[in-house]
Amino acid sequence: MSAQIVPDSQWKAPATLDSKESMKRVQDIIGDFDPDHTMKYYDYWSQHYEKDLEVLDYTVPDEIVDGLLKFVPNEKWRESGFQVLDIGLGTGQMAIALHKKTGYSGPIDGVDGNEKMMEKARVKGMYRDLKLHLLMEDSPMPNESNKYDVVVCCCAMVPGLIQPECLPDMVRVVKPGGYFFFTTRSTDGNQGFKNRVDNQIKKLQDSGHVRELMTKIVPQYSWPTAEDKSEKQCISAILYGMEKLKATE
Ligand SMILES: C[S@@+](CC[C@H](N)C(=O)[O-])C[C@H]1O[C@@H](n2cnc3c(N)ncnc32)[C@H](O)[C@@H]1O
Repeated sequence: MSAQIVPDSQWKAPATLDSKESMKRVQDIIGDFDPDHTMKYYDYWSQHYEKDLEVLDYTVPDEIVDGLLKFVPNEKWRESGFQVLDIGLGTGQMAIALHKKTGYSGPIDGVDGNEKMMEKARVKGMYRDLKLHLLMEDSPMPNESNKYDVVVCCCAMVPGLIQPECLPDMVRVVKPGGYFFFTTRSTDGNQGFKNRVDNQIKKLQDSGHVRELMTKIVPQYSWPTAEDKSEKQCISAILYGMEKLKATE
């Protein structure tokens, strides 16, 4: 059963105890940008994060891979030297989706500001290099420019987490001819933040660095609104797919 996307003002309360608890944790992360607070929150959330994803039918990493597969054919993933970077990798859900849907077993590097989340990814053994780094407008990632064939950032750009003004730094590390796919929420409450995302994309397009390939609205977190789970609503996300056109100097 697919969950319904409705305006925020029409959201009904989660009808089961586990979805209520998981939704509270998901929504508690949304707030003003305060990295110290956010990272302390992830110290706590890391213990519940993967369970919450299961409870809330989280499939955004799969959506990102499905989007990528429209532009990056199967054989490309097998070319030697092909490299992926996962920004805000959390517990490694993108690596799982990439492996499951493309069979990709080449190098995936990761960057995240929270060690406890990243440790859950490290033990999965699916990443080559993991860097602890907090993305901020004035602190570029410790990754080489123009390097990666594919860069992804899944559900890590919302108020309180990675800010839209970091988008040029994320594009910087993509190889010319490579792809950058990321998401933010597409809820009414996220419109101001999404406008800042769109402004950054426009600047990157105007300067000839990227071209937009696709956008798609996808369910992000779904919860039952009836106890028998016969109806569900969801928080939706917007998936952006970009191609990098020229090297960042
Ligand atoms: C909601 S989780 C998403 C994790 C993963 N991409 C997924 O799809 O499950 C967001 C992740 O972004 C990281 N994060 C948030 N703000 C960050 C920042 N400014 N710099 C680096 N990482 C950040 C958090 O530590 C967390 O692991």
